[in-house]
Amino acid sequence: MKLDQFSQGAFAGYETRLSDQPDAELTQVGPGTPCGDYLRRFWHPVFLARDLKDLPVALKILGEELVLFRDLSGKLGLVHQRCPHRLASLEYGKCEQRGIRCCYHGWHFDTDGTLLDAPGQPPHLNERLKRRIRLGAYPVVEYKGLIFGYMGPIAEMPEFPVFDAMAFEDMEMVPYQAPFRCNWLQVLDAILDPLHTSFLHSNIGRVQFSEGFGEVGQMDFFEKDNWLLGVNTRRVGGHIWLRVNELVLPNFTQAGSAFAADGTQRRLYGRSSFTRWVVPVDDENTLAIAWANFGERGDPPEWNTPEGPEVIEQGEVFDRTCEQRQRSPGDAEATEGMGRITVHQNENLVSSDRGITLMRKRLREQIRAVQKGESPARASATNSGAIPTYGGDTVLRISREDTPDESETLSQLAHEFMEMQYQADDLNEEERVRFVCEKLTELETQAAGSSHSE
Ligand code: FES
Ligand SMILES: [Fe+2]
Repeated sequence: MKLDQFSQGAFAGYETRLSDQPDAELTQVGPGTPCGDYLRRFWHPVFLARDLKDLPVALKILGEELVLFRDLSGKLGLVHQRCPHRLASLEYGKCEQRGIRCCYHGWHFDTDGTLLDAPGQPPHLNERLKRRIRLGAYPVVEYKGLIFGYMGPIAEMPEFPVFDAMAFEDMEMVPYQAPFRCNWLQVLDAILDPLHTSFLHSNIGRVQFSEGFGEVGQMDFFEKDNWLLGVNTRRVGGHIWLRVNELVLPNFTQAGSAFAADGTQRRLYGRSSFTRWVVPVDDENTLAIAWANFGERGDPPEWNTPEGPEVIEQGEVFDRTCEQRQRSPGDAEATEGMGRITVHQNENLVSSDRGITLMRKRLREQIRAVQKGESPARASATNSGAIPTYGGDTVLRISREDTPDESETLSQLAHEFMEMQYQADDLNEEERVRFVCEKLTELETQAAGSSHSE
């Protein structure tokens, strides 16, 4: 081989050296880290209520070892795992009528961490211990089968956030959780990366969702207060399909259906097929904790099976052989395959990664704001009484323009669609649906009129 064969950078294995330094500011989540401090200013789901039986459960969230339990009166406790006496694990504790009792020497704690009794001590010492000793505990809220915790400073605790999608009455909301053996940001990145649905979920292995995902389409990204949105607009025959991926900072995510829409059937204002939080377990493990939403405006009820939420979440079921994972990789393979904590310096971001760039920038700003002593930006309820959300899909009947490149029209439609949703922010759900559907029908009519007149 002659030297000039190497002149274009081929066979550059030796010269290509990657950094091994992850972006600590965005990826470390433990107590006292900047990102960990930021995330601790929000409520996060930590467990599925149906999996909490009569025994305490050991959990790890944001790098902290915790125990979740329900006392015999039905009250939930989320506490530090180690008993403050001599550090036995409360996972082996006994749930009492009120609180939990450590297995080792019987110290008894309330759900808020107060020491109620330290048996075997002289009474005056017992009283002193009750005043002095605290078990670390966090506030808990149970909502439609998910258990949420707030792990930040109590003085900064925000109201428990109710997003509109948490109150949809026409959906069957099925709790699920999905494990990822990698850093939380790798899992979060995918929501603002609509392009991956065309490859990972369609053109690479088998078609994991509906057929229409294979078409790349137009991508537009939107930023509105604490919302970051990626709209993927595709032409499918005589229809235009708008699919909205949504992130509400720091980790609330939604997207259109996996199976109900493929662009071939008209669909007005379908809502998200999952309502989901990306929750760091520690720096190298993550849980997506969510509801899968089934119904006319979500994914089809026939997918409401034990495997359905797994496929909607990752493109494939969770438990698969190595060969199955290689032949048809899903989100777990894509994100875990990057390594436990991916190194951003080694990436080569391109224009379709605009959503990811934007997300990381916004996260960094918020993390720094908290470090400066400010409160982080939080999504708040509008006059509708809930926090509005936008993830979902709509398919409009609009015939093809007589031009080889429709991207501008698709982009304009995406902008109009988002604008009409924003206009409905203050409306209650019923009014909002009516308003958005009327506007969408007008759009179709206008498009039909303009193509007719040309
Ligand atoms: S270690 Fe818990 S009571 Fe002693
Ligand atoms: Fe995906």
